[in-house]
Amino acid sequence: MLPHLLQIIFLLSAVCAASVLGSVTTSPGIRIPVTRVFKGTNTTQVLAGDVGVSNAQDYAYVVHIGIGGQSLPVLLDTGSADLWVATDDCTSPECQGLAKYNKSSSTTLQQSTTPFKLGYLVGSVTGTLATETVTVGQYQIHDQVIALANHSDGLNLSSMAASGILGLSFGLASSIPQETGHTILDNLLLQFPEPSRRYFAFKLGRQNSRFQTDPTSSFTIGELDPDFAKDLNGFTFWDVVPSATMTKTYDYWKLPLVGLTINSTQAFQLSASKVAGSPTPIAVLDTGTTLVLGPRKDVEAFWNAVGSARLDPLSGMWQVRCDRAGMVEFVLGNKGKEKAIPINPVDGGIQPNDDVHSGDWLLGDVFLRNVYAVHQLGIDGGAPRIGLMSTTVMEDALTSFRTARGPDKGPPPTLRPVGSAISERGGISEPAVYSISGFSGFFIGALLVIGFRIRRDRKA
Ligand SMILES: *[C@@H]1O[C@H](CO)[C@@H](O)[C@H](O)[C@H]1NC(C)=O
Ligand SMILES: *[C@@H]1O[C@H](CO)[C@@H](O)[C@H](O)[C@H]1NC(C)=O
Ligand SMILES: *[C@@H]1O[C@H](CO)[C@@H](O)[C@H](O)[C@H]1NC(C)=O
Ligand SMILES: *[C@@H]1O[C@H](CO)[C@@H](O)[C@H](O)[C@H]1NC(C)=O
Ligand SMILES: *[C@@H]1O[C@H](CO)[C@@H](O)[C@H](O)[C@H]1NC(C)=O
Repeated sequence: MLPHLLQIIFLLSAVCAASVLGSVTTSPGIRIPVTRVFKGTNTTQVLAGDVGVSNAQDYAYVVHIGIGGQSLPVLLDTGSADLWVATDDCTSPECQGLAKYNKSSSTTLQQSTTPFKLGYLVGSVTGTLATETVTVGQYQIHDQVIALANHSDGLNLSSMAASGILGLSFGLASSIPQETGHTILDNLLLQFPEPSRRYFAFKLGRQNSRFQTDPTSSFTIGELDPDFAKDLNGFTFWDVVPSATMTKTYDYWKLPLVGLTINSTQAFQLSASKVAGSPTPIAVLDTGTTLVLGPRKDVEAFWNAVGSARLDPLSGMWQVRCDRAGMVEFVLGNKGKEKAIPINPVDGGIQPNDDVHSGDWLLGDVFLRNVYAVHQLGIDGGAPRIGLMSTTVMEDALTSFRTARGPDKGPPPTLRPVGSAISERGGISEPAVYSISGFSGFFIGALLVIGFRIRRDRKA
């Protein structure tokens, strides 16, 4: 691989310094339209007993960006760091019917022969590196290093109507060698002279709007969307957990996870982190993953506590009665700065996966739909930060849930508090303590874990 590496450094070394950002003055507004893709397989099955499975759905959040003047829909993915698009020489079945990048009609493309290969938790993509002019909202980057994909497998691009993936995590998580140029994240954010503006913010909506802009979703760069927050005061900020303990390098947008509660009760203890030296489990925030994924053992304890749930032996996924109501909260943060984020019961979808390596839990869209999230680069050499503002009002969420699904006919959850962690935490006995994720069809949705890169292939 060394010759390739040297070649790309030579070819693109000027790019790092030369990446220039400029404003496109014709932009109508700050918000970059987000489409929420609804992949309705409309499966309705009635299983034995009272466990119903219906309406299998999975979702992805897609933004249109410009690549060499061509507008292409890409999956918004905070769980990977590379930008790639399928080119018209991609002949894989899943490239069929997609909008693809046309190399020959671009005047700004600089191709290389350096191969590119990227594996996700599911699926993979191959191609070559190139530089192109990339436009995201009103911001334009010249000579952004991107990958042009000639083959993709297992990502089901066409079902998301996405031509590629816009990865927004840090350079260390990148599959494109960092020597070849800044990540899209750095190029987008470092152009702001004021370090305080070096952030992006997103709100993932719930409106099904295939191929249309979803007004309940938002993605902005360097500023907040006034529809969701006027200023940063309502956010709780935490430092991002480094890629390894005692380092100041970052790979993913990670936070400590201190607990998972049901009806404000921590009914089971989370397993110790598999990240060496980490005092708490680590959660990775990832818009490119549909569900919440956690260690098999913990997810089992969770569903056992919720009750009215069962493990489907075929899929290995948990199913729960659709009317199951109760309140689930993820408690994030460090000691002394913990915050419980309630999850709307319609979001559901907590499933086992022991293949997550850079953290313990993957908090995908199921979690992220319940917050307005700010992801900010470090200021003055400090750590990057994540700011979250809870957007779910539990009483309202539970009322609509019960209206839609009917009363919960199951026995109450078996909650035996594990005391310590929870009693140390202030504010857990907030009002509106109700509903639990009552879901269905997760087992199908869980397969759509797109965004998160497998890091086994990397040394550092
Ligand atoms: C899926 O189900 C919904 C609600 O029952 C229905 O409106 C929609 O037309 C169905 N879609 C397909 C593709 O069958
Ligand atoms: C790609 O662009 C070239 C040049 O503009 C054009 O001739 C060709 O038809 C385009 N290919 C596709 C598949 O649209
Ligand atoms: C895709 O590109 C890679 C890297 O250049 C090459 O090795 C591979 O043969 C190409 N695959 C197809 C299907 O064209
Ligand atoms: C959880 O909260 C709901 C709503 O308040 C209530 O109906 C249910 O009985 C509670 N379960 C337990 C075990 O406290
Ligand atoms: C992709 O789609 C195929 C066929 O539609 C399906 O069998 C497969 O499970 C899907 N994969 C994912 C990851 O969703």
